[in-house]
Amino acid sequence: MPAIGFGTSSLSGNTAEIVAAALQAGYRHIDTAWKYGSERAVGQALRASQVPRGEVFLTTKVSHEYLRADDFARSVDESLKNLAVDYVDLLLVHWPNEAIPLAETMGALAMSKRRGLARHIGVANFNTSLLDHASQHCPEPLAVLQAEYHPYLDQTKLLAACRRHELIFTAFCPLARGRMFNDPVLGAIARRRGRTIAQIALRWLLQQNVAAIPRSSNPQRIAENIDIFDFALTDHEMKQISALKKSDGRIANPAGRVSGWD
Ligand SMILES: NC(=O)c1ccc[n+]([C@@H]2O[C@H](COP(=O)([O-])OP(=O)(O)OC[C@H]3O[C@@H](n4cnc5c(N)ncnc54)[C@H](OP(=O)(O)O)[C@@H]3O)[C@@H](O)[C@H]2O)c1
Repeated sequence: MPAIGFGTSSLSGNTAEIVAAALQAGYRHIDTAWKYGSERAVGQALRASQVPRGEVFLTTKVSHEYLRADDFARSVDESLKNLAVDYVDLLLVHWPNEAIPLAETMGALAMSKRRGLARHIGVANFNTSLLDHASQHCPEPLAVLQAEYHPYLDQTKLLAACRRHELIFTAFCPLARGRMFNDPVLGAIARRRGRTIAQIALRWLLQQNVAAIPRSSNPQRIAENIDIFDFALTDHEMKQISALKKSDGRIANPAGRVSGWD
C-alpha cells in the first residue's frame, strides 16, 4: 500500500478532474467511501487515466448503517458498481455500530475478501478494545486500521494496538483539516527545511510507519503533499512535533457513536 494516498471526501469542484490531477501527480493510492458519494468520480478518473488498474491501490468503506450481513454485501456490490471495478484493494468498515453484533459484521467483511471483492480488509474509527474484538471475531486477518491522526492528536495507544495486531495504521485528517497551518513550532521546522507545514506533518507520520491520505482540491497542494520522500526529520524534530498533542485535538469525534471510547 503506497504510504501517501489521496483523500476524496468533500472535494470542492469536479471530483473526477481532481482525482485525475492526483493520479497525474503520482498518487497510486486513492481513498474513497460509499458515504462520500465520490466513488463514481473516482472510477471515472481511473478509467480516463493511463494508469493500469493493478497499479492503483483503491480503498472504499461500508457505512455504519449497512453493517448487517445482507446490507453489507449489497453495499459492497454497489460500491464496486459505482467504481466500475471487479475488486477493491482495501475494504473498510467505516464506523463501528454497537447496535449490530460485531461478529456478524466481521463475517460479512471476511466474506467480501473470500469472494474476491476485496484484496485486503480492515476497520476505521475503532478504538483499542473494539480492535481487539474485531481481530478476535474476524475469520480473515485484518490488514489496516484507519483513524484520525495528526500532530494535535495523541494516538500512542492505538498505534501500540496496531503493532500488536500487525496492522498498518492509516491516518485520516492528517493535516488536521488545516488547523495547524499557523503553528509556530511546525512553522519554524518548515522554514528551516524549506518545506511546507503540510509536508512536515506528513513526514512526521511517515517516520512513524503511518500511512496518510491527505485531501486537497488544489493541484499545487496535491503535488506538494506527495513530495515528502527526499528528506528526513531528526529525532529532536520528531519529538518537538509529538509534543504538540492537545487533549481537545480530535476533529472527527466518534465518542457520541460508541461507548467506552478511549
Ligand atoms: N475513515 C473516516 O472516518 C474518515 C474521516 C475523515 C476523513 N477520512 C479520509 O481522510 C481524507 C483526509 O482527511 P480530511 O479530508 O478530513 O482532511 P485533511 O486532509 O487533514 O485536510 C484537508 C484540508 O487541508 C487543506 N490542504 C490540503 N493540503 C494542503 C497544503 N499542502 N497546504 C495547505 N492546505 C492544504 C485542504 O484545502 P484545499 O483543498 O484548498 O487544498 C483541505 O481544506 C478524507 O478526504 C477521507 O478520504 C476518513
